[in-house]
Amino acid sequence: MFKIIDSLNNFGDAESGELLALISQDDPEANEYLRSLAEEKRKSVYSNHVYIRGLIEVSNICKNDCLYCGIRGSNRSCSRYRLTEEEIMDSAESGYGLGFRTFVMQGGEDGSFDDVFLCRIIGRLKEKYPDCAVTLSLGERSRESYKRLYDAGADRYLLRHETANREHYGKLHPANMSFDTRMKCLHDLKDIGFQTGCGMMVGSPYQTAENIVEDLKFIKEFSPEMCGIGPFIPHKDTPFGDFPMGSTALTLKLLSIIRLMLPSVLLPSTTALNTALPNGRELGILAGANVIMPNLSPVNVREKYELYNGKLHSGKESAQLVNELKMQMENIGYRVVTDRGDFIKSK
Ligand code: 5AD
Repeated sequence: MFKIIDSLNNFGDAESGELLALISQDDPEANEYLRSLAEEKRKSVYSNHVYIRGLIEVSNICKNDCLYCGIRGSNRSCSRYRLTEEEIMDSAESGYGLGFRTFVMQGGEDGSFDDVFLCRIIGRLKEKYPDCAVTLSLGERSRESYKRLYDAGADRYLLRHETANREHYGKLHPANMSFDTRMKCLHDLKDIGFQTGCGMMVGSPYQTAENIVEDLKFIKEFSPEMCGIGPFIPHKDTPFGDFPMGSTALTLKLLSIIRLMLPSVLLPSTTALNTALPNGRELGILAGANVIMPNLSPVNVREKYELYNGKLHSGKESAQLVNELKMQMENIGYRVVTDRGDFIKSK
């Protein structure tokens, strides 16, 4: 096992069989070795800096019906909201004062967010905060739309691939969503010039260890600038409400593997990890993550953006408590920086 970890560390890749062995084993010494190399690798590129992103959840209205997601269109128990342009600007203003230099506009696939509206708000954000990056996470759109958003000034786009296996994709999504469309969107985004993020849930229903290896192979090949992974957490009002939560230990292991595969990837320690595991945020950073995305949405809508049950949004997940987050990071030897936190191209 140590040999596989060494070669992953030296060459940034491994055979599928080796990756399968690595994710399937549970030797605490091997896992600690993997973690320590990932931490070292992360520090060689990003030092001990932690980038923070202000997450503005702009709408929980969604036309899609992903089987895992609490804000899926057919969930009648979800109380819907959409932020106004001014609410979004106000969120960014308080975020700027708190030291955020990236704003992430994330939302369901809400038809009201047309290109005209989005381009206007991207333009306003970039004009008012020229030293900030704007990240979008608004789902699948046409190539033309992505291009308009990019030309309006958006810097980055997050769109998880969810699974790199076509059959598995079909089990997680309704028939009107397609694996090919998801892949096309990701390639369009990258091609247009966005810093692009993919990612998946760990332990989503029907996921096999082989599927995870396919995810890793896809991630290596696609070589995204960002990669978001977190454990699957069930939401009671979805068809997957009775499935078990994904493994946090495996999530941590995958963070380390992804760090070794893509040394300069922007890798968040996600809210899902922190929800599923006490101190998950710190453990994610110690496993090789370098990004944290606290919640900057207006407080009154936060509990409505419930992708999964128990999703944290207050305490240290709240952007307003960034000082506590700073202390939390200092306690483990890391430093939150006031910086756009762009992807650093490998030397
Ligand atoms: N558990 C964990 N993550 C989830 N997401 C959606 N639903 C869940 C869930 N039940 C993730 C998906 C999506 C991102 C916005 O949140 O991967 O891409």
